Amino acid sequence: MERVARELRRLADARAVGARLPSTRELQQRLGVGPVTVQRALARLVTEGVLVTRPGAGTFVAPRRGTRLGDTDWQQVALGASPVALDGVDFLRFRSASPIAFQLGTGYLDPSLRADSRLAAAASRAARRPDAWGPPPPAGVPELRSWFARQIGADPEEVLITPGGQGALSAAFRALVPAGSPVLFAVPTYPGALAVARSAGLVPVPVPADGDGVRPELLARALAATSARVLCLQPTYSNPTGSLLAPARRGEVLALCERAGVFVIEDDFARWLGHGQTPPPPLWRDDDKGHVITICSLTKILAPSLRVGALTARGPVMSRLAAMRQIDDFFVPLPMQHTAVEMVTGPGWTAQLRTVSAALAARMEALTAALAAELPDCAFENPRGGINLWLRLPRGVDDRVVTTRAARLGVAVMPGRHFVIGEQDASHLRLCVAGIPERDVATAVSLLAEAVRASAGSAARVFGA
Ligand SMILES: Cc1ncc(COP(=O)(O)O)c(C=O)c1O
Repeated sequence: MERVARELRRLADARAVGARLPSTRELQQRLGVGPVTVQRALARLVTEGVLVTRPGAGTFVAPRRGTRLGDTDWQQVALGASPVALDGVDFLRFRSASPIAFQLGTGYLDPSLRADSRLAAAASRAARRPDAWGPPPPAGVPELRSWFARQIGADPEEVLITPGGQGALSAAFRALVPAGSPVLFAVPTYPGALAVARSAGLVPVPVPADGDGVRPELLARALAATSARVLCLQPTYSNPTGSLLAPARRGEVLALCERAGVFVIEDDFARWLGHGQTPPPPLWRDDDKGHVITICSLTKILAPSLRVGALTARGPVMSRLAAMRQIDDFFVPLPMQHTAVEMVTGPGWTAQLRTVSAALAARMEALTAALAAELPDCAFENPRGGINLWLRLPRGVDDRVVTTRAARLGVAVMPGRHFVIGEQDASHLRLCVAGIPERDVATAVSLLAEAVRASAGSAARVFGA
C-alpha cells in the first residue's frame, strides 16, 4: 500500500491542479496491484488533501497546500468575533471521505443497513411524476402528513413536513422564543440542538438527566430560577445516553411545564430504532393543551440524505411554526417527499424496521460486552434502545485527547464535551453503533481501550484546577 500511495503521489505531483487521475482499473494495471490496494491508497491521499474524489466523475488533483488565490485576511477583520459559539460544530461536518476504519462516531446507518437500492428506485419514480417539479402544499404532501400523524397519534393538520430533524429543531427554537431567551435542555444532549439554539442567539440552560431521563426536581428548580419558556428533551432512547424517560416522570415533567407555561420540544429522533421492542408512545399523547411539540425524522432509519422529518404541534403556535418553515426554505422538495411516502408505505418498510432493530440490538450487545471486558474502569448504563452509549472515562482522562488518539488508531468517537453545557465532574465519550458492523465492534473497542490507557493523566489540568 505504501508503494502504491507513493506512486499515486508522484502521479498527482506531475499533474496540474484539477487534472483527473487514471481510473482505478488503469491504476491497477499500471501498478500491478488489486482494486482494494488502489482504493486504500486513494483514500489515504484524499485524507492527506493531495486528491479529491467526485462521486461518479473520478479522482482529481486537489488544490496544492499553500496555493493562494488571493489574500483573504481582510475577512478576519470584517468578521470579528463570531456572534454564535461555533465550537463543537465540527460534528456537523460529515467526513465521508475519511478512511477511518472503525466508525463509532456517526449517528447514521452504514450502507449495509440502508435501503439504498429501494430508495434509488423510489426516488427515480418520484422524480418522473408529472407534478414532480412544481411546488408542494406548503405544509407538505397530504399522504406524508397523514402517515406521520398516525405514527405520533396526531391529526394530519397538526403535522408540518420538514427537511429532517435538524431543520425542524431550528424552525422550532426560532419560532418559539426571541434571541436572548434561555432554553432548558435535558443534559447530556445532542450537540446539533445546542448549536441551533446558540445560533439563534438563545442561551442553553442545563437540566441534568439520569438513567430515567430528566430529573423533575432539578427541572422544577430550573423553571423557578429562569424565565425559560422552552424545554428540549429526547424522551425515547436519548442521544447520547440511550435512556427512556421513566413512565413515572412523564406526568411530573408535563405537569411542571404546564404550570410554568412552557413548551416541550420532544425530539423523537429514534422512534424507529428500538432493539426489537416497541418504544413508549411519544410524550405528545399525554398532552392535549399544546405544550408538546414533537419532532420525528426518517434520516436515521432510512438514510441521512432522505431529508424528511415532521414537526407536530397544536394551537396558535402551529401558524408560527409554519411561517418559520416558509421563511427558512419554503418547503421540502416534492420528489423527496414522494420518495419518503413510497418508502414508508411500501412493502419494504416493515422489513427495514426489523432488519435495523435486530442489527442495532446485536451491535449494542457486542459493544457493551467489549466495553465491560476491555475498559472496566469506564462506567456506562446499558442503553434501552437506539444507537448511542454514554461512556464515562476514568478520572484524569481527557475526552479530546482520547478522541484524537483513537482517530490515529482508526477509531472515530465523539468527545463528550459537546453534549454538555458548562462544567462537568468527569469526561465522557459518545459511542454510536449506527455505522459499525457487529464484526468490527470488538476490534474497535480494543483500539479505543489502547487510546484511553495512553491518555491517562491527560485531564489533570482541566479537572484538577
Ligand atoms: C437527537 C437528534 N436529533 C436530531 C438529529 C438531526 O437529524 P436529521 O436532521 O438527520 O433528521 C440528530 C442527528 O444526529 C439527533 O441525534
